[in-house]
Amino acid sequence: MIQEINRLADNIKSLLAPYGKNHNVHEPYFDKNSIGNIKKCIESSYVSTSGQYVNDFKKKLSLTIGSPRVVLTSSGTASLHLALNVIGIEDKEVLLPSMTFVATTNSIKYNLGIPHFIDVEKENVNIDSVKLEQYLKLVSVIKNNRCYNKNTKKEIKCLILVHAFGHPADIDKMQKICKKYYLEIVEDAAGALGSKFRSKHVGTFGRFGIISFNGNKIITTGMGGAIICKNSSDYKKIMHLSSTARMQHPWKIEHNQIGYNYRMANLNASLGVSQLKSLNKFIKNKKKLHLMYLKLSKDNDLFDILENTNGNSNYWLNNLILKPKYKKFKVKLIKRLHENNIFVRELWTPQHMLSMYKKCESSNLDNTIDLWQRTISLPSSFYNGL
Ligand SMILES: Cc1ncc(COP(=O)(O)O)c(C=O)c1O
Repeated sequence: MIQEINRLADNIKSLLAPYGKNHNVHEPYFDKNSIGNIKKCIESSYVSTSGQYVNDFKKKLSLTIGSPRVVLTSSGTASLHLALNVIGIEDKEVLLPSMTFVATTNSIKYNLGIPHFIDVEKENVNIDSVKLEQYLKLVSVIKNNRCYNKNTKKEIKCLILVHAFGHPADIDKMQKICKKYYLEIVEDAAGALGSKFRSKHVGTFGRFGIISFNGNKIITTGMGGAIICKNSSDYKKIMHLSSTARMQHPWKIEHNQIGYNYRMANLNASLGVSQLKSLNKFIKNKKKLHLMYLKLSKDNDLFDILENTNGNSNYWLNNLILKPKYKKFKVKLIKRLHENNIFVRELWTPQHMLSMYKKCESSNLDNTIDLWQRTISLPSSFYNGL
């Protein structure tokens, strides 16, 4: 069996060989315009929270997403923090997949909420709607149009729907369940810029959607994020909170609540403007890479590639799922690839396994654990010439 694993590592190496010698899971790609815009931004002296590029990026991002209510922020984490702050989750439970990046869970704690973990689908990384509904039926009770956890007596306020690795979750089913159980939806579309469900951009279905422009995302602003707001009163609140809750006045510096300094800087937005122009090119390129990995999986019998099952994915990150009988060789495969300068990674360690979240309530998480034990993220950068 170990020979088969070594052969698999060699196959991955050959597949990536035309695109360089070192491969990280995701690297940003910059063209000449990126440097031009950054230079112009510095020369303008408007490098901070106001300027031409924040306005321009916001406008163009709104058009890409198809929402007039987009707020630019300093990170995906800041976006989640603000969205949950406006919903109001103090001492309330928030459902989320255990298979997510730690920022999703942390943002609940920042707002004094209580994380409550749900399992993902078998062979998929998004929340399992069947398991979710069965679980809610078992643990919750509805009173006065609110959903309560029978065990803890706390209100279950909302669901954070993660579109993991760019693949849209089954939004139709989630919306139905959330309506029935009076749950708000926040879409964590951190890695899903360009992904669509029923021809609509992900992040536009829930009360809020968030996006990340961190250096490892499909487009980057260095660090940065965005919040998509369903309604205009939320949009106004988010705009206000993200800019230190400062009141409009020609000379006074006054604030009417505890706000946050979470706006995106013009310097970051100058990079966003040029990156956004390449989004369609990046998505096409990533789809090609995905098909190459898929072919490799069909040509041997060791693994599957995590496929998109809902709508249109941006194919941000490709993930290799070892067949169960090869599960024990995962670390061997990772080490063999690292020796060949292919720096693959494990999936996010499930949140319920992290020391600070071990005691949180959860559904049965068998699929999450199984997927985590068998899956690695493959190099998925934009490969020029692919
Ligand atoms: C699912 C998910 N949520 C939130 C974030 C946080 O985004 P940021 O790194 O921009 O704070 C990430 C970042 O990787 C993510 O993958």
